Amino acid sequence: MKKRYLIAANWKMHPAPLVLRRDASPSPYHPRSDVDVVVFPSLLDVRECIQAQIITGAQYACAKECGAHTGDVCMSQIAAAGCTYVLCGHSERRKDHDETNDDIALQVISALEHNLHPMLCIGETEEEREAGKAKDVVAAQLSTIPLESNITIAYEPVWAIGTGKTASPEQAEEMHKYIRSLLPEDTRESTRILYGGSMKPENAKELLEQPNIDGGLIGGASLKPEQFAEIVRIATEL
Ligand code: PGA
Repeated sequence: MKKRYLIAANWKMHPAPLVLRRDASPSPYHPRSDVDVVVFPSLLDVRECIQAQIITGAQYACAKECGAHTGDVCMSQIAAAGCTYVLCGHSERRKDHDETNDDIALQVISALEHNLHPMLCIGETEEEREAGKAKDVVAAQLSTIPLESNITIAYEPVWAIGTGKTASPEQAEEMHKYIRSLLPEDTRESTRILYGGSMKPENAKELLEQPNIDGGLIGGASLKPEQFAEIVRIATEL
């Protein structure tokens, strides 16, 4: 069966690409019939993306319900704003905000309770890979998560994020296959496992054509509409 790819843009703490401001519809970020496209803008740009009819997710939301938590935004708020996805456990949040595997599990559960689709990010650091612990780290990151639920997983080796270094297709496939083997039988085939970490037009084809890679979570290249469009085009042709 032909795979239906999911190509996601993570704009991190960057302004939305100007193409959106020019009311260019359809842009490479807009929904299409042959590939799923999702955008994770900064919270300030969420509304604009939703108004432009882009499938939009938040880069983070708090697992707690609405209440006295200054500076935070909860799952029910992003759902009410029109988000359909939420990233959980991006490595930059694990590092900058000391998010633990237990914290991230609470986010995933809260997202599901609010009918949001969690995109769980996992991946090892360079030291962990060099120490031969990459699979153990990923298994531990998955161990707290309700994997029988409808979630998407993004395998993002930390050493490949924003560094220009990409996992080789063989390294990525080996890990994706391992991740799939850890999923319960009911969701093993249906769960999409995306690759993230310096995906760009030059390497997208060889990564996306691996049997266990179902799409990409793209940072740097997603801010450049022509590069993102090219990755989406590659996915449509596989
Ligand atoms: P990158 O970021 O494509 O810039 O490496 C990916 C991510 O952090 O999701």
